[in-house]
Amino acid sequence: MTIKSRIRTIPHYPHQGIMFRDITTLLKDSVGLRATVQELAHRYKDMKIDKVVGIESRGFIVGTPLAYELGLGFVPIRKRGKLPAETVGRDYQLEYGSDRIEIHVDAIRTGDRVLLVDDLIATGGTAEAAVGLIEDMGGEVVECAFVIDLPDIGGRARLEKLGQKVFALCEFE
Ligand code: PRP
Ligand code: ADE
Repeated sequence: MTIKSRIRTIPHYPHQGIMFRDITTLLKDSVGLRATVQELAHRYKDMKIDKVVGIESRGFIVGTPLAYELGLGFVPIRKRGKLPAETVGRDYQLEYGSDRIEIHVDAIRTGDRVLLVDDLIATGGTAEAAVGLIEDMGGEVVECAFVIDLPDIGGRARLEKLGQKVFALCEFE
């Protein structure tokens, strides 16, 4: 059984017409969870990454064990108003709505080589905003890693047009 086969699809959630790719079925499976973290760790172990940055909330679930496995620290990018110290933020559009993400100003040091992690890329709006925050702080995004890419929605192409490298463990049409 593959990583992709462990991901469940819920039609019309949270809105009519959205095919929601649900990773809870992957995460609850011990083999699936381990394969997800190990495949990403294998790819990034020799890339001289300094920090793993994960995007709230599903990016935390994947990013934290990955950072642990790589022997690195983890930095959260959170939705508006959740981080307690001084932050910088960016607004962005979602496949279904809009939001704002923030990062602590002291989370990234100039020159840090950062791996950005989230569960899924759809429009790429969230990841583009996250890349912007990391770069605002002087970090270099080595690659943007996802469990799932939805290539038809165009997020990967959008990030690549900005010069970013993108990797995903699986795709859904
Ligand atoms: C989802 C997903 C990504 C983002 C992808 O998060 O986890 O972060 O949307 O969409 P995009 O490529 O169109 O920007 P969501 O904002 O639903 O938050 P959650 O992880 O807390 O459920
Ligand atoms: N986030 C944005 N689009 C999504 C989708 N189709 N499934 C799961 N999470 C998402």
